Amino acid sequence: MDKMLVDGFGDVTITNDGATILDEMEVQHPAAKMLVEVAKTQDDEVGDGTTTAVVLTGELLGKAEQLLEKDVHPTIVVDGYKIAAEKALELLDDIALKVDPTDKSMLKKIAAVSVATKMLAEYGDQVGDFAVRAVLEVAEKEPKGYRADVDDIKVEKKPGESISDTKLIQGVLLDKEVVHPGMPKRVENAKIVLLNCPLEVEKTEFDAKLNIKNPDQMKAFLDEEEKMLRGMVDKIASAGANVAICEKGIDDVAQHFLAKKGVLAVRRVKQSDLEKLVKATGGRVVTNLDDLGSKDLGSAQLVEERKVGDDKMTFVEGCKNPKAVTILVRGGTQRIVDEAERAVHDALCVVRDVVVNPKVVAGGGAPEAEIAKRLRTYADKLSGREQLAVRAFAEALESVPMALAENAGLDPIDTQVELRTKHEHGAIWAGVDPFKGKVADMAKQNVYEPLAVKVQLIKSASEAAGMILKIDDVIAASKMEMKGPPKGPEESGEEAGEY
Ligand SMILES: Nc1ncnc2c1ncn2[C@@H]1O[C@H](COP(=O)(O)OP(=O)(O)OP(=O)(O)O)[C@@H](O)[C@H]1O
Ligand SMILES: [Mg+2]
Repeated sequence: MDKMLVDGFGDVTITNDGATILDEMEVQHPAAKMLVEVAKTQDDEVGDGTTTAVVLTGELLGKAEQLLEKDVHPTIVVDGYKIAAEKALELLDDIALKVDPTDKSMLKKIAAVSVATKMLAEYGDQVGDFAVRAVLEVAEKEPKGYRADVDDIKVEKKPGESISDTKLIQGVLLDKEVVHPGMPKRVENAKIVLLNCPLEVEKTEFDAKLNIKNPDQMKAFLDEEEKMLRGMVDKIASAGANVAICEKGIDDVAQHFLAKKGVLAVRRVKQSDLEKLVKATGGRVVTNLDDLGSKDLGSAQLVEERKVGDDKMTFVEGCKNPKAVTILVRGGTQRIVDEAERAVHDALCVVRDVVVNPKVVAGGGAPEAEIAKRLRTYADKLSGREQLAVRAFAEALESVPMALAENAGLDPIDTQVELRTKHEHGAIWAGVDPFKGKVADMAKQNVYEPLAVKVQLIKSASEAAGMILKIDDVIAASKMEMKGPPKGPEESGEEAGEY
């Protein structure tokens, strides 16, 4: 199920993404803040499994509490968890399946599973297809496998139409319109200048006063400004550019001159977009127009303004470097596109994870159940009290399939028994199928997840739990109480700023 989060201003976010939920929440307790960090790390590192990571950390702490009540010292629990986490990682690697990093059908399955729990579930195939194509497009072959960065894939969202109208665009899409109606709306064989200086007359940093005594002086002043702007546009045109993309503003007069020269111009483009254009078009960012030369220009087959919904957007297609893709997410309302964008992000991340590290495990809590079983066997060999902590770790891992069972309305105890029995009989990939409401072989159901997601969640959950367990006291500064209303720095005298 999704969660509806309403903030202090009444803004609503609807999501099922663990990291987003925690990010939106106002968490006060310092230990709880660490759980928020776990979700964030999981999101940054692998992009999926944030909810599972938090559930696992919480469960590790819960089980630790039971041990502490039995007078097991926290350091023993921490050591035990560390041993268990190391062993779990080793075992995970043992059971993981090697795949071909360019096997599209496998990658699609993985993307579909990552969105299966999201609102986008019914579009799993389509989103999966886009995610796989986009990631493989930007992936680069290296001697030891592939390198891929999801930041190279631009995800743009625009409310309107429906999720099924989400598109994959070969090129960079700018959420900006052409600045002047007199400019061309379509330029083929574009020579693009990428600017991060304004095409405006610079304002002085201090206030200046001009005394103008007659209208001629006023005219001369304005003419000079116009000349400067015309000079800027001339530099752009003489370098051979027919498209100008600017991170800063473009003055009305400069727009007019650009239009006269037949240059298509777009202003106030995001810095990240400019960086993507650098990669895509092979151009260089120009900070000073005096240095502009034809070698700085990027190229693309087509730059065109098109209408998307109510807005106009600029498409830069057929770039010099084909490794430039944009996914344009559509959806009925703003909140739908927001959540769809998050799901697309998850899908891109899991595909990237597998392309970079081509190992997978089945999902549905199967690997957690299998690792729990193997950890219990391993615990039997340990002497000392750490054994108890390793067992507790195994139980905490089992909470993952249990949570899935509960969410699917299954009886947790029956499911646990069935799951354990199946795993004892060698069914490694027996997990919970929440849709059919039974324990089933997840690999046969094509439910696969990247190994990297599971590895990261064990690492961050165990480390965060260990860190919290090592704390035996919280020393907090008393709340700052203000005496009287705060004063601005300029009016604060001797007695001001007292707390
Ligand atoms: N078709 C499926 N059958 C069984 N289990 C599934 C299926 N699809 C997903 N799962 C399981 O659902 C769990 C993931 O749930 P969910 O996506 O809600 O949380 P998360 O990935 O931990 O966090 P988030 O996606 O919020 O970052 C995984 O354990 C995955 O194996
Ligand atoms: Mg997920």
